[in-house]
Amino acid sequence: MLMDSNQLFIGNYGTRSICLEKGQGAYVQDTNGKKYLDFGCGVAVNSLGYSHPTLVNALKLQADKIWHTSNLYLNQPSSALAQELTSRTFADKVFFCNSGLEANEAALKLARKRGNEINPQKNRIVCFTGAFHGRSLFTLSLGGKEEHRKPYAPLPDAITRVEFNNSAGLQEAFNEVGDDVCAVIIEPIQGEGGVNVASPELLKLARYLSDEYNALLIFDEIQCGMGRSGGLFAYMDYAIQPDLMTCAKGLGGGFPIGCLLANEAAAQSFSAGNHGSTFGGNALAATVACEVIKIMDDDKFLANVQTMGELLAEELALLNKEFNCFSEIRGKGLLWGCQLTDKYLDSKGNKKGSKFLEKCRAAGLLLLLAGSGDVLRFAPPLIISKGQLMEAIELLRNALKDF
Ligand SMILES: Cc1ncc(COP(=O)(O)O)c(C=O)c1O
Repeated sequence: MLMDSNQLFIGNYGTRSICLEKGQGAYVQDTNGKKYLDFGCGVAVNSLGYSHPTLVNALKLQADKIWHTSNLYLNQPSSALAQELTSRTFADKVFFCNSGLEANEAALKLARKRGNEINPQKNRIVCFTGAFHGRSLFTLSLGGKEEHRKPYAPLPDAITRVEFNNSAGLQEAFNEVGDDVCAVIIEPIQGEGGVNVASPELLKLARYLSDEYNALLIFDEIQCGMGRSGGLFAYMDYAIQPDLMTCAKGLGGGFPIGCLLANEAAAQSFSAGNHGSTFGGNALAATVACEVIKIMDDDKFLANVQTMGELLAEELALLNKEFNCFSEIRGKGLLWGCQLTDKYLDSKGNKKGSKFLEKCRAAGLLLLLAGSGDVLRFAPPLIISKGQLMEAIELLRNALKDF
């Protein structure tokens, strides 16, 4: 029985009319038995699809051993996961938490603490337009959307916002306030902001300026990391290393987990009692994440993400030729955004992205929006096959014909 979602739930998610019950691979089924091909993936989370047998088995085995230990004690799965993550990335140390915003909150607190210890004015954070770093008071203050920030005043201050991919703007900001900057936070590929890929120049300059002004460079890879970009992490394509990196979403393959990764020098800024999390490093979550990273850090796996990503981009471009529906198609790996053209405006001038999503849903395809509801976002499971990808394109073609 599906309740009216407005009866039981606080209204922050709006009305939800579909109740998902079970899934297998790239497909998910609702309580009415309707099947969907899922190109939203629980918002870029279920990257190995639904019910991956390796993850399910690992979870079941761990469930019989121990679930929660608190951080008063070590547990084997979180120690193993720390090893898996540090051996595969720039990082020397990790902090585990349960979500993306918690990982960012930890990174920002660490950077502020370090800055304040250098000098009491060194607490400014540089962020970017179009950014999304989470919904806590601190992380939403760095986000690009004014409507996310405005209702929650007063917000944390000492924040400078620079236009995304505007290297000159970043240089100017540092010319003005560089000595006060404790951190720069960037998504190498912005997800929620409309799928915008950072230019190599921007990341290079951010690295250079962070070094020059003794600030920490934070990469938020919560959406674009864990195989989504076609590399294990998106930064790996840029030959630039951050001081801190945050990761969540795909890390747990659907099990809630987040983490902050740090190089040795940055990690020194937190000592006992400076930060914490009751559930962070939970044994079940860490067990699943260990399996996820082992599956993903494989040349064949990542090559499939790249090949399927290229095919998806080509097929979207062909659809655009047929329907003239997108003003831009952008992305990388298996994260793509299609900017809807003006013919998809309603009478009030709003983009009809959500109407389009409804049509796709009715046809059996789950998609996401990004930007201001004017970008169709594609984040299929990274295990997607060519046949499934072409099935999604056919469903999309039918929705476009009908719009
Ligand atoms: C880049 C980025 N950072 C942070 C977050 C926040 O993650 P969570 O919703 O797990 O708190 C998100 C979520 O969409 C994200 O895409």
